[in-house]
Amino acid sequence: MDLNAIRQLADSDMQDVNKLIYSQLESDVALINQLGFYIINGGGKRMRPLLTILAARAIDYQGEAHLKLAAIIEFIHTASLLHDDVVDESMLRRGRETANALFGNSASVLVGDFLYTRSFQMMTELGSMKVLEMLADATNVLAEGEVLQLMNCNDPDTSEENYMRVIYCKTAKLFEAATRLAGVLADSPIEIQTALADYGKYLGTAFQLTDDLLDYTANTEELGKNIGDDLAEGKPTLPLIYAIANGTEKEQALIRKAIELGDGTQYIDEILTALNKCGALEYTLNRALEESDKAIEALSCIPDSDYKQALISLAKIAVERNH
Ligand code: FPP
Ligand code: MG
Ligand code: MG
Repeated sequence: MDLNAIRQLADSDMQDVNKLIYSQLESDVALINQLGFYIINGGGKRMRPLLTILAARAIDYQGEAHLKLAAIIEFIHTASLLHDDVVDESMLRRGRETANALFGNSASVLVGDFLYTRSFQMMTELGSMKVLEMLADATNVLAEGEVLQLMNCNDPDTSEENYMRVIYCKTAKLFEAATRLAGVLADSPIEIQTALADYGKYLGTAFQLTDDLLDYTANTEELGKNIGDDLAEGKPTLPLIYAIANGTEKEQALIRKAIELGDGTQYIDEILTALNKCGALEYTLNRALEESDKAIEALSCIPDSDYKQALISLAKIAVERNH
């Protein structure tokens, strides 16, 4: 199934999710509406809410709460992107200027806070202590992951294990919550909830590994983000970590220096050659494929349906994408 077919399958639910998203954006404060609309309507893939919808349908959930849950998860994700682009000093996302580039850092952070706190208001409307608990945990871990990543910045001795922990916290944890909570809403048996959670976790990890790979291999037009951002920040992602452990002495020294100084973009061509030659890009791709396979494997106890097939296809698309 391609992405269009997957979206078609979830279309009716996703339209309802979008209505909820727009209605919950409203505020008497003009800048919130303006910036909020800019970021919510900015060509995002709505990947996380789509996962919640597909997971809920795959287990034949009969209620309506999955719609609000999906909107909540998109709000949390969007809030985190507003903060992220400030922290990362990013100027381009989804092919457009970032909110911070257009409205400034203060407005971005504060509207991020609005979206984040609105998501908690919506959670209380859902009235499930379990949902509240899991989303409080997931967002707390998200923040932890970002702080951990900050500590790794400019540190060429960051281990692969430490990096994997960062990407689990900053990305996979919210995917995990997005899918697990469909099972929680449906009051599914624990093994189904765990299967959905594992699927989300592995998919999220595959997604972030691919994101980190694309920061070296994509082009800015396709990606809609400036490539080389990670390198410019001295962020030790897996391609660099692998090259430091496996490259020639010269390659290691070059990459160490780029991470330490945090302005490796001036040697981007040399670094790309080194990453290719020592197999770092291939290794990262293979790690992403492994996680994608594990995501698919995790669904084995879910009965077959178009929705399950859509989840399987998404796990493949997450690593095949070029944007
Ligand atoms: C994108 O990663 C960012 C995240 C996955 C999470 C960002 C989370 C925070 C800033 C914590 C604040 C959280 C809340 C809930 C307000 P990236 O920078 O590697 O990817 P990119 O290339 O898309 O920018
Ligand atoms: Mg970023
Ligand atoms: Mg970031």
